[in-house]
Amino acid sequence: MGTPSTGLADIGLIGLGTMGAMLALNIAEKGFAIAVHNRTTARTDSFMAEAGELAARITPAVDLAGLVSAIARPRKIILMVPAGPIVDQQIEALTPLLQDGDMIIDAGNANFNDTQRRAKTTQHAFIGIGVSGGAEGARRGPSIMGGGPRAAWDAVAPILQAIAARFNGQPCAAWMGPGGAGHFVKTVHNGIEYADMQLIAEVYGVMRDGMGLQAGQIAPVFEAWNHGPLQSYLIEISASVAATPDPDSGAPMLDVILDRAGQKGTGRWTAIEAQHLGAPIPVIEAAVAARNMSGALQTRRDGQSVFGAAPLRLPDRALKLNDLESALIAGKITCYAQGFGLLDAASAAFDWALSLPAIAEVWRAGCIIRSAMLDDMARALGQDRDRNMMQAPFFADLMRRHEAGLRKTAATAMMHGLPVPALTAALAYFDTMRTARGTANMIQAQRDFFGAHGFERLDRDGRGFHADWAQGGAGHADDP
Ligand SMILES: NC(=O)c1ccc[n+]([C@@H]2O[C@H](COP(=O)([O-])OP(=O)(O)OC[C@H]3O[C@@H](n4cnc5c(N)ncnc54)[C@H](OP(=O)(O)O)[C@@H]3O)[C@@H](O)[C@H]2O)c1
Repeated sequence: MGTPSTGLADIGLIGLGTMGAMLALNIAEKGFAIAVHNRTTARTDSFMAEAGELAARITPAVDLAGLVSAIARPRKIILMVPAGPIVDQQIEALTPLLQDGDMIIDAGNANFNDTQRRAKTTQHAFIGIGVSGGAEGARRGPSIMGGGPRAAWDAVAPILQAIAARFNGQPCAAWMGPGGAGHFVKTVHNGIEYADMQLIAEVYGVMRDGMGLQAGQIAPVFEAWNHGPLQSYLIEISASVAATPDPDSGAPMLDVILDRAGQKGTGRWTAIEAQHLGAPIPVIEAAVAARNMSGALQTRRDGQSVFGAAPLRLPDRALKLNDLESALIAGKITCYAQGFGLLDAASAAFDWALSLPAIAEVWRAGCIIRSAMLDDMARALGQDRDRNMMQAPFFADLMRRHEAGLRKTAATAMMHGLPVPALTAALAYFDTMRTARGTANMIQAQRDFFGAHGFERLDRDGRGFHADWAQGGAGHADDP
């Protein structure tokens, strides 16, 4: 492709780190001419040296002015630098060099609140895109969640859709909505990713500590599950991970890795935004908390000295592998239902008109949470948007079939001191969401007792009823 008449590049990219370099090569490979710039010129040089034949379509620039002048108008410039103030610095430096109609595309893992702000304050069209799939995805086909002005997205979409992963021929790159919608969807994607990973880790823990299975015995279990409803990238890599030996010690790699998980913050952002929006996502929150607890290594070691060792080995046949598979299936459905519920709440709050089926569609390939089930989710969400996804006929059927396995796994694990916070959160969410008469009447009564907050009644319309608690009298309405 390119712009043969002018010799100018179709697009520019700033930041040739892990992700930027891979994206730039992907763009060039798809036939687009690209201009690139990196703060440290030595990195640009080594990037060009390693680009091979693709270097013919890549123009390196030593400074921003050189980059801008190498791109055809209206210019499209991707930022692939660390999220936060560095993005603002880049926008500030680029702004005086750009002209009307030019576009800045932030492809980093931005906090969507920053993208919302930049969408308002940036002089040029500002597009925030969430890019998932890691370095390999960036090179071979990521999943891309776009946000910002629709017209600007449409201008850059041919390039982004050409480099994206494909599912049944359909590109996994789509416009999600205005402002920070793309980065919000990417954040929730990562929150779901935390939960999916935590559920798998908990089931691994039940197999390792509860059933006494070695990593080498666990690998074929994941491998087998990857041919059923759980078929997904994360289950696939869990099988590979469990099968990999440590070349130094010969022990399973898993057995020599410290049990302290890192995080870069997107799971936490999901939990924070869910709290702001009042959207229940207890499985995702449990997964974020579990990462934090994993970090409390010394406290856990001290705890084992104080309280004795848990977990305990399960009695023979207390749980079958089928129960664990069911627990993962049901747990997974609840965490995705929560993630889509959060997206729905954000869509209403920010007036984004998010398409939940379109989101499930862009997650079907290229991204870390890609799975067979996402195709079913896209269909279910398309049929009935207003329903919790667990209740859509396809998933309701799965929940009915696998609820018992989740319950048995969670209950058995808890009885034997095996920590399964995400599985138990999934079960509690399921049970809460199918209980028509809950217990918040007690909360409302307490609130009215100590704070005269008022309550609604089952037998009368209106709000603001009070009870004369001190005298045990019946409720009365001062604002029915
Ligand atoms: N890694 C992943 O799997 C992944 C996946 C999805 C999204 N992301 C997001 O993608 C973005 C980039 O991540 P990455 O993994 O590619 O990071 P990286 O490998 O650390 O590369 C960072 C890039 O930003 C440049 N940079 C750093 N500070 C700068 C500054 N003050 N001014 C100008 N340029 C600066 C670096 O240039 P120098 O060479 O000069 O240092 C380098 O090109 C982040 O927002 C990240 O969260 C990463």
